[in-house]
Amino acid sequence: MVRAWHLKSRPHGLPAADDFELKDVALPELGEGMVRVRNRWLSVDPYMRGRMNDAKSYIAPFQLGEPMDGGAIGEVLESRADGFAPGDLVQHMAGWRDEAVVPARAVNKLPDFAVEPQQFLGVLGVPGATAWFGLLDVAAAKPGETVFVSAAAGAVGSAVVQIAKAKGMTVVGSAGAADKCNYVRSLGADHVLDYKAGPIRKSLAAAVPDGIDVYFDNVGGDHFDAALALARNHARFAICGMIGDYNSAEPPSFRFMTRIIAARIRIRGFLVIDYMGRMGEFYAGMAPLVASGAVTSRDTVYDGLEAAPDAFLGLFSGANTGKMLVRL
Ligand SMILES: NC(=O)c1ccc[n+]([C@@H]2O[C@H](COP(=O)([O-])OP(=O)(O)OC[C@H]3O[C@@H](n4cnc5c(N)ncnc54)[C@H](OP(=O)(O)O)[C@@H]3O)[C@@H](O)[C@H]2O)c1
Repeated sequence: MVRAWHLKSRPHGLPAADDFELKDVALPELGEGMVRVRNRWLSVDPYMRGRMNDAKSYIAPFQLGEPMDGGAIGEVLESRADGFAPGDLVQHMAGWRDEAVVPARAVNKLPDFAVEPQQFLGVLGVPGATAWFGLLDVAAAKPGETVFVSAAAGAVGSAVVQIAKAKGMTVVGSAGAADKCNYVRSLGADHVLDYKAGPIRKSLAAAVPDGIDVYFDNVGGDHFDAALALARNHARFAICGMIGDYNSAEPPSFRFMTRIIAARIRIRGFLVIDYMGRMGEFYAGMAPLVASGAVTSRDTVYDGLEAAPDAFLGLFSGANTGKMLVRL
């Protein structure tokens, strides 16, 4: 029997396990141009919190009572599409379920790199590409510059730390636990800040009193404010995510906003989906770093489809180091 997680209720604030329901679903017939895929790995991602709200955004909200979707890696079981055969490993968006029938045009065969398939949901997937384009394109970070990255032990943040080090930058990373800070240090970060141990602005100022050239924002709130306070003239901020605010009813407030003018700070939000046409460039730059060991990755794995909501909720309590994944 095929099962899929459905959105049962829209959360206010932090979502709860009760907002999700695992139900049986019928698969459509395998039509011409379709493949049937058995999922092996599911991605859970912070942006899915926004999809639980009934709000217009860059991606459609999950519908109440309907199956949810998201990134997944699976194996083709059956194909009526040219170029796909049983046994092919593919990436697609029919996650949050164990099996799916999907149009072949919405499915990508995994690139032929000698890595574990789940890395295409992590360091060689969306999180890695987000780190790559956010740091090098959006923030235009250069060798010799000082980069501050928040949620540095997470999927995107840990890739930012390592790409920046590989490109000759000084890196300050923040994370919310001692073991996560040790992990960020092991990735080569020059300074590591435990934001739960004290105010982030004070620890950032102590680590880099001369300030930062680039801020890669994954958290928002007090981290963003600290980066404003410490920004050098002409600093660039790549606003990737603000997970600290995703469950908050109150808008964040900032003390150091006026520094945007005096320091001529350039602040740019971005979405990695706008870079999907440049994935070849990402693979060409990132795959050699992964192959040489200059960029490594860690996964936090929850087992079984039943565990998907817990894995997702764990993103907001910091239960993951590296990429949060569900293994089926
Ligand atoms: N713009 C884009 O296209 C794009 C693409 C992918 C991801 N993103 C964004 O990038 C960010 C990181 O995503 P990811 O997939 O790599 O997730 P992740 O960093 O692997 O996991 C989320 C981490 O955020 C931290 N966190 C959770 N709640 C927090 C809070 N209230 N305050 C401070 N930190 C908190 C936790 O780490 P600690 O234990 O260290 O607190 C947690 O482990 C998210 O904001 C996400 O929305 C954006």
